[in-house]
Amino acid sequence: MPPTLPCRIGVLVSGSGTNLQAIIDRIEAGELPAAIACVISNNPDAYALKRAARHAIPAVIHEKGGYANRREYDAATVDILQKHSVNLVVLAGFMRILTDVMVNAFPNAIMNIHPALLPAFPGLHAQRQALDYGVRYSGCTVHFVDCGTDTGPVILQSVVAVEQDDTEETLSARIQKEEHRTFPAAIKLFSEGRIRVEGRHVRILP
Ligand code: GAR
Repeated sequence: MPPTLPCRIGVLVSGSGTNLQAIIDRIEAGELPAAIACVISNNPDAYALKRAARHAIPAVIHEKGGYANRREYDAATVDILQKHSVNLVVLAGFMRILTDVMVNAFPNAIMNIHPALLPAFPGLHAQRQALDYGVRYSGCTVHFVDCGTDTGPVILQSVVAVEQDDTEETLSARIQKEEHRTFPAAIKLFSEGRIRVEGRHVRILP
């Protein structure tokens, strides 16, 4: 993949936005050569919107009402992202499955963070799934998005040990700590033009 500098990120959120905050913090610290062009939330009450406002980042509330189907909603999302000249889309706790309309508009340029070591425990409640299964290790995965649920090529993963007395909350908190390190690291690789996708394999260039 050729260098995509300057990297203009569109961040899609639905909730608290701690991953958004981690990305903002790395950019403001000068450690991540990128800019957040816009934040888009499908939830008008998402705390992530307050974080965007605090850092003077343009934010758009984009609810699903008024669209006939998911593809139409996605077409409108693509429109917003293109108006902000976005070249990397980051799903930071965005709780909607993307259709081919979004995936084809940004080929190998949509990243998602998932709170498990994919392909284990895709979908909702990944931390609960890991605890119920009894695994000793879980973690987080940053991957490119395709039309499946958490199925796209893996970019980076971080491992977290599962403790005997872990609850969903304690495990989620330790995984989130890794998310906040791993997501900006993957975005940095992209912004430096150091990612090449070969089928299912993501090569990281020196
Ligand atoms: C994160 O833990 C992320 O891994 C998860 O939502 C949380 C959002 O937190 N995403 C998924 O489960 C997607 N399948 P945040 O709003 O504080 O960044």
